Amino acid sequence: MVSRPADDATVTDAAGPSRGPVVRVASPADLVRHRAAIERVCDLVFREAPWWSGQAEHDRFLARLRQDLTDPSILAVLALDVRDAGDALADRDARDGEVVGMAYGRVDDYVTGALREQAGFQGPEGEPSAFEFMELALDPAYRGAGLGGRLHDALMGAAGEGRPGYLLTRPSAAPAVGLYRGRGWYPVAPLVLGPNRVEVTAFRLDPR
Ligand SMILES: CC(C)(COP(=O)(O)OP(=O)(O)OC[C@H]1O[C@@H](n2cnc3c(N)ncnc32)[C@H](O)[C@@H]1OP(=O)(O)O)[C@@H](O)C(=O)NCCC(=O)NCCS
Repeated sequence: MVSRPADDATVTDAAGPSRGPVVRVASPADLVRHRAAIERVCDLVFREAPWWSGQAEHDRFLARLRQDLTDPSILAVLALDVRDAGDALADRDARDGEVVGMAYGRVDDYVTGALREQAGFQGPEGEPSAFEFMELALDPAYRGAGLGGRLHDALMGAAGEGRPGYLLTRPSAAPAVGLYRGRGWYPVAPLVLGPNRVEVTAFRLDPR
């Protein structure tokens, strides 16, 4: 079962919540409040290789992101840097900290549909719908210290047990592939997506 917090709930992972980046499941209000900062992080991160494939494609990605952030079926986690946000600050946004990373997904059939179409993939019989891990992005200044892994673990923890996970990534995205493999994801099939024929690999995580 997917668990979402109430609008003002604060859910931190094991490393929070004093100072330094905390990771927490985002409420719908968080996604509204932090929308511009989430877009800023994603805009920065997906301008990097191997993700960049031109401004038009990037604009389409950002438009999809904006749409996803208002989709009630989205489950998202945020990494917030609260170092400079003192408790005395009256402004809620400042107290909350600055978004430096995010991950989100939802129960969906997009990847399994593409796998069925392109790779003849059926999946184990009777398998429930999948949780699709849709995006993971961390500000480059915060990398290499376990925060990307914490975002992943918080999202998959909130997604609950009993469903397989699926995701798409570029085979050349070494940090992402290393992170996923280290957490039990394994490649299922190469896929080619969209009019630009982007080559990606579909990964699966077996239900726990
Ligand atoms: C992927 C990303 C979130 C990782 O963030 P990070 O905080 O640097 O990662 P962590 O420090 O938590 O490391 C997580 C794991 O990845 C592994 N890893 C990190 N960099 C790696 C590299 N260059 N090659 C192989 N593995 C790597 C680490 O060894 C670590 O493994 P462990 O948890 O088993 O010890 C970050 O690099 C990023 O935002 N990349 C660009 C966006 C992206 O690729 N998103 C994925 C879209 S599908």
